Amino acid sequence: KSSDIDEYLRVAIDVAKEAGKVICSALEVEKRIETKESLADLVTETDQQVEKMIISTFHQKFPTHCFIGEESVSSGEKCTLTNAPTWIIDPIDGTTNFVHRFQFSCISIGLLINKRTEVAVVFNPNLDHMYTAKRGHGAYCNNTKLKVSDVNNLQNALILAEFGSSRDPEKMTKRVETMHRIVNKSHGIRSLGSAAMAMCLVASGRGEAYYEYGIHCWDVAAGDLIVREAGGVVLDPSGSDMDMMARRVICACNKDIADQVISLLQTVEFERDSEE
Ligand code: IPD
Repeated sequence: KSSDIDEYLRVAIDVAKEAGKVICSALEVEKRIETKESLADLVTETDQQVEKMIISTFHQKFPTHCFIGEESVSSGEKCTLTNAPTWIIDPIDGTTNFVHRFQFSCISIGLLINKRTEVAVVFNPNLDHMYTAKRGHGAYCNNTKLKVSDVNNLQNALILAEFGSSRDPEKMTKRVETMHRIVNKSHGIRSLGSAAMAMCLVASGRGEAYYEYGIHCWDVAAGDLIVREAGGVVLDPSGSDMDMMARRVICACNKDIADQVISLLQTVEFERDSEE
């Protein structure tokens, strides 16, 4: 029901703002940092605290809904996506940026129903940018409607790409080679350190495409809808439909740009987020 969807969006915006306050006050104090899989895969107490706060708020309001949260999965919870309404949450996307006070970190919240994102909120509290989308109703940053760029030639495009958090030498070689190919055929590459922020910038027409192998569902669940609602495309890097649990994504302002980037990509293999 559309009134339900409006309520889901309203609660998600409110909880993202609350989470933003916690993140901003934590910026001022010294952080205890732990590493997960690699030196570049960080978690702080704030990630855990914010995730708990977000999940308990949603759980109280919508007791039948399911959850997938980055830190809950890290601490051993299952990462299974069913058709039931499921909130997919990254309490801080861009944790490394948060640790360094580099201003591209955000809270990413997507509500999936039948495995499709219906409501999306990405809030960057550092810049006070609130990105929202509802399926079929456009995407917004604060009160401005978003629209992707209309560039359709890679030669005139700015591409967002990431090194990701794995430092496996074979994966790194493939990534660097791919970036080398792309940088030679475009205006350039930018690495923001937050998948959700990268997708929001593509949605805002501030870059033409973003791709990454190794992301998780919580990095892209919200960005997926924001890009689509701004008129862009979100695909699997093979060119087929995006698969939320496949740990790989490309989004672009249009199919022409996506195809041109895809033709230069090298596959980097990752285990899926879930096998259901
Ligand atoms: C990371 C960021 C980064 C991407 C990594 C993600 P996190 O998320 O989105 O841009 O390259 O693959 O893991 O760990 O900061 O939530």
